Amino acid sequence: MRIPPAVIEEIKFRNDIESVVSSYVNLKPAGSNLIGLCPFHSEKTPSFTVFKNTQTCYCFGCGSGGDVVTFIMKMENLDYVGALEFLAKRVGLTIPRDQADENNRIRSARILEMNKCAAKFFHAALLSPDGKEALAYLQKRKFSPALIKHFGLGYSPNSFNALMSHLKANGFTEKEMVSGFLCGISKKTGKPFDLFRNRVMIPIIDPKGDVIAFGGRVLDDSLPKYLNSSDTPVFKKSKNLFALNYARKNCADRIILCEGYMDVIALHGAGFSNAVATLGTAITPEQARIMERYTKSVVIAYDSDEAGQRAADKAFKLLGEVGLDVKILKMTGAKDPDEYIKTYGPERFRRLLDDSKTHFDFKLDAILAKYDVSVIPEKLKAINEITDIISHINSAVERDVYIGRISQMLEVSRDSLTYDINKKIKKQNKEQQKNESRKIMLQSAGYGDRINPDYAKNVRASSAEESILSIILTYPELLQKIKKGDYKLLPEDFFTSFGKRVFEKALELTTDGTYFDYGILGSEFTADEMGRITAIVLKRNNLSQNGEKELTDCIAVLKNEKNKQSATLEDIINAKRNEKK
Ligand code: GTP
Ligand code: MN
Repeated sequence: MRIPPAVIEEIKFRNDIESVVSSYVNLKPAGSNLIGLCPFHSEKTPSFTVFKNTQTCYCFGCGSGGDVVTFIMKMENLDYVGALEFLAKRVGLTIPRDQADENNRIRSARILEMNKCAAKFFHAALLSPDGKEALAYLQKRKFSPALIKHFGLGYSPNSFNALMSHLKANGFTEKEMVSGFLCGISKKTGKPFDLFRNRVMIPIIDPKGDVIAFGGRVLDDSLPKYLNSSDTPVFKKSKNLFALNYARKNCADRIILCEGYMDVIALHGAGFSNAVATLGTAITPEQARIMERYTKSVVIAYDSDEAGQRAADKAFKLLGEVGLDVKILKMTGAKDPDEYIKTYGPERFRRLLDDSKTHFDFKLDAILAKYDVSVIPEKLKAINEITDIISHINSAVERDVYIGRISQMLEVSRDSLTYDINKKIKKQNKEQQKNESRKIMLQSAGYGDRINPDYAKNVRASSAEESILSIILTYPELLQKIKKGDYKLLPEDFFTSFGKRVFEKALELTTDGTYFDYGILGSEFTADEMGRITAIVLKRNNLSQNGEKELTDCIAVLKNEKNKQSATLEDIINAKRNEKK
């Protein structure tokens, strides 16, 4: 969807960058600018700068930056249009929709309609003679008829076209079925076929109540155990949570996060209607942010095996980063919550919930299980690992509480623990600083440049090119002149493919007026690329004020470097020819 420039301007005008960034970053004045700790990388001294007069931001530590739209793209993990919608909503604007967008919306609505039709079909099939075996399987797992109905569980018949025929009879096309991940196309015959066959079907329903996807489980031990919908126009597995449609009404205090669909269904059946699960993948930052919107705290109830515990450790980090209070539930005697509830009952599970541990205790338990602290060398190793963990805790008060506990538990003085921990913190700070300055050095030398990998190949040409870009992005009238053919500067003259792309898009997006806001490039470039473009524009501040003269000079350098290069190429070819002779 293309949003008209005037609308983008209005959205940006009403979303002052200072007020938007302030809701994520604690900003302090620094001269005419504002600075704060960068939200995109971890740092202890602020290098994230907001430039009020140009309404842009830039982090001198990690190179993130751009205008308010780019900031939201990166912060909220949205694409350009998504970020504009986010900002429009923030100030109560509605974005007028164009026809293409309207068509997309209709297409999505059709897929949702089709999914609903499929879910009803699967559910009816489960209760029909066809579904006898699947129903017996669910009964064996102690899922009551009421619970089956609540979750709309179903059965996909053991046939290559049962669902397809049903959907066709209801007016859906093969194309719609394929794009909604209900049908696949056979590589051999080129014909479509039902993707879900002979499986218990679990509809994934979003908080709006739409069926957005399906999970399908085999009825026995065959593999693969689950088939899950891939991403479709109405479904992104990284941005949804299973059972959030039910949990959202009961989770203001706490969400229980599980690994499996079956765990969640069993938990809801046992009265824990605040349980959700990820959709067959490890938890993503988006999912962490979604949870943060609905609740204050999360209890991780992952499988008790090693893989589950390792995944829990990662989830801890992600959930903690969005500011949630996170605990982990420790289960023994069962592999997952579903099995636990069936073996020990809901009451015992509730006790586990109440006894769930903080990240520190979780790690502490693992260390104490690993070492025999009655033996001095092992005790020292344990203390070393524990002080490591404490040294990574940001809050001094929190550190102090743990130091007190460990000092009592392991009979070492608070002072010596504090001394060791402070030493570790100092060392970490030094290393962080070293890493940052190393990164900046490498960046400015053009090494390891992911955004513009060509830069280092010819620093003279690349640097001239960046100066040209910084001039034309700062002086729209020069961009206009170039577009009309003055200066004889063409995309082919650019040395790096990144620079060439920026130039081409700037030409394409500039309109007749002299007004040009390079933020509009956000529709064509990623948030990280926008950071680089911002850095290029900022470079302008250090250059002379005579833009035209400098532009001519830089173009000359660029063309000269190019000639040199083709000359050398020619030389090489000639030399080779002569060799052959
Ligand atoms: P049950 O064995 O029926 O109790 O399943 P579960 O809900 O306990 O799931 P499990 O812990 O085995 O797996 C966790 C989640 O990972 C499942 O809910 C699925 O979403 C996903 N998953 C498991 N196995 C597969 C598989 O073979 N393929 C895919 N794509 N996903 C899987
Ligand atoms: Mn299970």
